Amino acid sequence: MASLQSSFTALATNPRHCTSPNSKHFSATPSHFSTHANRTPRFQVSCNGGETQKPSSEGHVDRRNMLLGLGGLYGASNLISEPQAYAAPIEPPEFKACGVARDVATGDLLDVNCCPPVSDNIIDYKLPRFDKLRVRPAAHKVTPEYLAKFEEAIRRMKKLDKDDPTDPRGFMQQANIHCAYCNGAHDQVGHKDLDLQVHNSWLFFPFHRWYLYFYERILGKLIDDPTFVLPFWNWDNPKGMQMPRIFDNGRSPLYNGNRNQANRPPKLIDLGFSGATEDLQIVVNNLTAMYSEMIRSVNSTTDFMGQPYRAGSPPSPGMGSSERGSHVAAHVWVGDPRNKYSEDMGNFYSAGRDVLFYSHHANVDRMWSIWRGLKTDVPKDINDPDYLNAAFLFYDEHKQLVRVKAGDCLDHKKMGYEFEKVDTPWLNYKPSKKAEKANIKKITSGAETAEKLFPLTLKKVTRVLLNKSAKGKADEVLVLENIETDTSKFIKFDVFVNDEDDEAKELDKAEYAGTFAQVPHKTKDKKGRSTINLRLTDIYEDIDVDDDDTIVVTLIPRSNGQDVTIGGIKIIPSPPRSG
Ligand code: C2O
Repeated sequence: MASLQSSFTALATNPRHCTSPNSKHFSATPSHFSTHANRTPRFQVSCNGGETQKPSSEGHVDRRNMLLGLGGLYGASNLISEPQAYAAPIEPPEFKACGVARDVATGDLLDVNCCPPVSDNIIDYKLPRFDKLRVRPAAHKVTPEYLAKFEEAIRRMKKLDKDDPTDPRGFMQQANIHCAYCNGAHDQVGHKDLDLQVHNSWLFFPFHRWYLYFYERILGKLIDDPTFVLPFWNWDNPKGMQMPRIFDNGRSPLYNGNRNQANRPPKLIDLGFSGATEDLQIVVNNLTAMYSEMIRSVNSTTDFMGQPYRAGSPPSPGMGSSERGSHVAAHVWVGDPRNKYSEDMGNFYSAGRDVLFYSHHANVDRMWSIWRGLKTDVPKDINDPDYLNAAFLFYDEHKQLVRVKAGDCLDHKKMGYEFEKVDTPWLNYKPSKKAEKANIKKITSGAETAEKLFPLTLKKVTRVLLNKSAKGKADEVLVLENIETDTSKFIKFDVFVNDEDDEAKELDKAEYAGTFAQVPHKTKDKKGRSTINLRLTDIYEDIDVDDDDTIVVTLIPRSNGQDVTIGGIKIIPSPPRSG
């Protein structure tokens, strides 16, 4: 069992940054908010080592990398001057062009129309001035007065569905925003063949932050209380690790019958899907998983935020560690296995129909804000204009359709809210160092080389013998490339390094390296493809790799291993931290 140690300060020393002298070239100025047709030519330094070049099976190659001629991981010092070398930011969808999503499994039209009302009157949203920050409370600690307000606001939002189903502020209309942005109802503008998808990429945090921002303002408007805030589901703290009870009262509008009945309170959420059955083990697994996805496994900005996604490139280039970790876990844990698609929370198209979704995402949003404040050696913001200028459309509390951009939501305090202060026990939850070095004979038995095993369909626990890029305690990352998944399934697998036992119900150990997971969703393209990096540097410290030049990586399928194929696996020197 791990103990609470103060390893955090050790991590924060010796910061390393992108070494390019021009790496601070960009800032998020409003002038960048324009279509790419009138973008001014300028220099760009790619300081983006985390972005591996991924020729997909459609032959797509990241355009910028192609033009840079990077072809690999070391683009840090390339300087280019042609503006064409950019891709362009993802543009907001055209609501007029919204169509019906398809079920990937059958190709049938989905039985929902999640397209929003059309409006030609779109304005660029300006954040109002906030004199006082509103404090989003932890859902398990709210006062009766607060709860009464929250319930009344949701009641009125649900009533709008009946009174005026075309009011964009109604409960189903709001739920459908998520469906439209996530299940292929919107195409990318100018790219009929490409879905607009706000998950599985660097758009994940900004899209959901704006979504909740307007949801919250609409609720406030409906009860005539502009100070209203959403509560967050504090699943990263042992006290919040149950479904908050305010959502489990059958007489409350916060209640939803479409949830996994086995996971109602007081059942503890298993963020690692470890299968552990004892409460104490579940809690320490959760804290370990949090520490891993927030700190230990994160080598670069995009490792946390998600991979670059630009106009004209295929959706879902890759999730960040938080999105595929605790975020996916809570969705799937709440979703109702009695339903075909694990509705509501267990599938993107229906997730917004559960009020709990918004409190789950309020905590995801909180994780982003905490991460930005961590003193680790990874730069916290993405300066790429294609990220900052990516734009979305939402209806505000006055039913006005507004255009917002990712670069304007980076600081939640500028959006007028903060979070109730609660303990973050995972922050120092570093696993204990191994008392002795792993028994090499034992860990290599049954292991095969990557050449022999890959591409690998993860039908069973698999051990891979891998060459390190340098001997011993090197600064390295593990790369799992071209992870191809069936997008209609809940996929999850875990990664361990030099682990002697494959039991793996315990995550709270030095060998745990991270996870991959995906919420099922319905898209035109049944296959998802992505690449993830897991930082190994701290693990080497804790498991004692001596001067070894190989390690054994154990891949443990947790859910639907037969539906995930990993194209390749390798260890490389840590790419630059920014990205
Ligand atoms: Cu947009 Cu958690 O999903």
